[in-house]
Amino acid sequence: MRVLGIETSCDDTGIAIYDSDLGLLSNQLYSQAKLHSHYGGVVPELASRDHMSKIVPLIQAALQESGLNGKDINAVAYTAGPGLVGSLLVGACIACSLAFSWNVPSIAIHHMEGHLLSPMLEEDRPLFPFVALLVSGGHTQLIAVTDFGKYTLMGQSLDDAAGEAFDKTAKLLGLGYPGGPILSDMAQHGVKNRFIFPRPMTKKPGLNFSFSGLKTCVARTLCKHDNSRQTYSDIACAFEDAVVDTLLIKCCRALDQTGFKRLVIAGGVGANRALRRKINKIIKQRGEKIFYARPEFCTDNGAMIAYAGMIRFNSTVIDSNLGITVHPKWLLSDLPSI
Ligand code: KG4
Ligand code: ZN
Repeated sequence: MRVLGIETSCDDTGIAIYDSDLGLLSNQLYSQAKLHSHYGGVVPELASRDHMSKIVPLIQAALQESGLNGKDINAVAYTAGPGLVGSLLVGACIACSLAFSWNVPSIAIHHMEGHLLSPMLEEDRPLFPFVALLVSGGHTQLIAVTDFGKYTLMGQSLDDAAGEAFDKTAKLLGLGYPGGPILSDMAQHGVKNRFIFPRPMTKKPGLNFSFSGLKTCVARTLCKHDNSRQTYSDIACAFEDAVVDTLLIKCCRALDQTGFKRLVIAGGVGANRALRRKINKIIKQRGEKIFYARPEFCTDNGAMIAYAGMIRFNSTVIDSNLGITVHPKWLLSDLPSI
């Protein structure tokens, strides 16, 4: 069985074809980062227009790379939410139209379920049950996962998501967009512990996060010190350490609470090298196992949507009214089980 996956929730146009026997046949990605970098963040209207111009050539490229044409595709999976409504609608309209003309089901996928399942694209896949830390630009969530489609939210950010905190702090430091990877590169040149920022909400019990206060710490520190490159790197390093330690403390707490022995980290911030280094070490010491997707599958991509579509294929009810629905706000816990 072959599923075409379409991801257009934000500023990446991702198209992939997943074959249930052969695995991933093609993965095409167009990033709009350069377009939005002039504005310091995603401009929704520009994002939708850019998806419109890139999506069809990318689908053609994916079919060509796989040596397939429309009649070889058994389902079209697309990100139906959460995300920017205009961007989601571009992917949904194309997906539902193709599915109608090819006479195959269209499958609405939750973007965060795509992220959560992305480590399944790798050879070393996690078995159930596991704790998943989803860390992206829009979400920071800890989820107890007992099977495909069986997700229990254990904790989440009460304000900024981890990726959002990276991006906003990068902006304060005058770095480009998206700021997470740029700030992280800068942090590598920082002097450890010259500045120490709090690990928010780690002293109290519970699994929620709050990252917005770290921006204030960064802004205050910037006011009090010189604006040399070294100081900026030292601040970036202190910020990254604070986020990484906070995520790590809460992951260990979630593992203790569930008794699960496996941790999955997914979403854009999951590509962060400092996070991987520190968490790998601690999880190993605890005798537990950690799973990630490769860095290009941590950030938004079509492969994770195609894979999630394959998992949801059998439980998909074909919608006969030909409606095209997207859900800009959509809770993972509202997903039907599989
Ligand atoms: O999952 P993703 O591509 O999109 C959303 O679903 O939001 O995540 C994007 C987020 C951005 O905030 C970006 O700055 C952050 O992930 N990010 C990183 C790194 N790579 C991407 N943050 C820290 N370190 C990185 N290496
Ligand atoms: Zn994402």
